[in-house]
Amino acid sequence: MNVLVIGSGGREHALVWKLRQSPTVNALYCAPGNAGIGETAELVSLKPTDLDGLLRFAKENNIDLTIVGPEQPLVLGIVDMFRKNGLKIFGPSKAAAALEGSKVFAKDFMARHGIPTARFRSFSKEEQFEAERFIHELAPPIVVKADGLAAGKGVLICNTKESAIEALHDLMVKKMFGSAGEKVVIEEYLVGEEASVFAITDGEKFVTLASAQDHKRILDNDQGKNTGGMGAYAPASVVDEKLMKRIVREVITPTLKGMMNDGVPYQGCLYCGLMITETGPKVIEYNCRLGDPEAQVVIPLIDGDLAQLLLSAAEGKLNPDIAKQHPASAVCVVMASRGYPDDYETGKEIRGLDTFKPDDGVVIFHAGTRSEGKKVLTSGGRVLGVTAIGYDNDLRDAIQSAYRAVSKIAFDGAYYRSDIGKKGLSKLQNIK
Ligand code: AMP
Ligand code: GLY
Repeated sequence: MNVLVIGSGGREHALVWKLRQSPTVNALYCAPGNAGIGETAELVSLKPTDLDGLLRFAKENNIDLTIVGPEQPLVLGIVDMFRKNGLKIFGPSKAAAALEGSKVFAKDFMARHGIPTARFRSFSKEEQFEAERFIHELAPPIVVKADGLAAGKGVLICNTKESAIEALHDLMVKKMFGSAGEKVVIEEYLVGEEASVFAITDGEKFVTLASAQDHKRILDNDQGKNTGGMGAYAPASVVDEKLMKRIVREVITPTLKGMMNDGVPYQGCLYCGLMITETGPKVIEYNCRLGDPEAQVVIPLIDGDLAQLLLSAAEGKLNPDIAKQHPASAVCVVMASRGYPDDYETGKEIRGLDTFKPDDGVVIFHAGTRSEGKKVLTSGGRVLGVTAIGYDNDLRDAIQSAYRAVSKIAFDGAYYRSDIGKKGLSKLQNIK
């Protein structure tokens, strides 16, 4: 079959890398892709938000399956548009993608269906006074969230009631995130360890992939600013088999049933961002796609044909037997540009990429790169996802081999965290 992947980050490189291993994939395209993706798939110069252009391309090139990486095209309704035109596409409809696109929708949904989450209330811009009154009812820290997509920046964790009221003002009056802040969710702060769980679903049946832990802050020991994610490892040590069963029972099953019963069946990848609290798992947020960088560690652990798995989900007849899990660990260390997550420099030459052999358990997923002649240059904040897979299931080995690989790569201003996966190791030591 002919496959089109939409997106240009490390997540999409991981998808393309795995899809290329599928014996049933013929032509493989990626729009717009990056330098690394261009070595495996044919790049198509179309933006993920150019829905008309993407539809035209898919029709003209007889695409049998389109796989959507990022959230924007999903929230804009690319799935509805492709389906209306008789094309198969992996991802949720516009209405179902509201689980990520609107935090008010997601929280109201969870409350209605008894899915564990932080205590909250939502407010429209006419209800600023009521919102302030609710802030006074909560004990700090208090979490104030913009309703809409805000590039991962719309969550404000406030240590005092005064700063929560200020945050509310920033969102509703100063419109710091434009229309995304017209409605807000105010909620209690959850204490625990975070983990992400992914389900591939046809709306009814589903399979879970390996659990993962992202590292969102820019500095070691989870300090500094929030980023898109500075690294990840899988499986997350905090999610043992018993907890995974509980997450399936208390979160994934009721979410998919709830969406079905509400008349918005959810098809695609359901990403559950969880806080593992003392009283059990609670949903921090849903995303309507795979995580980035979580995809870079979760996809290599799939033992099976990814193209067939996603096709079966998109056709509404998921075959869960296609995807087993390798009993392995994977670690992805993100190499970023100096300055990220604020302004950063680009156009720096990356050296050392050719020192890796395809079978040494290390894959360099490109995130923000472009090629210029024979050179590969940086072109984004997150540049590379250096990923190691420990097939003997040893997280420590995978961490070591990821950092060994990082040390062989260089570009001016390269920055990375030095503690990716460490949390997982300390958890394992506690268990032993
Ligand atoms: P989000 O953009 O919804 O992923 O939130 C960004 C980050 O804020 C999450 O990964 C959590 O670390 C943190 N966060 C969001 N909501 C809460 C909460 N209710 N309690 C504690 N931390 C939270
Ligand atoms: N790594 C977090 C996300 O993909 O939303």
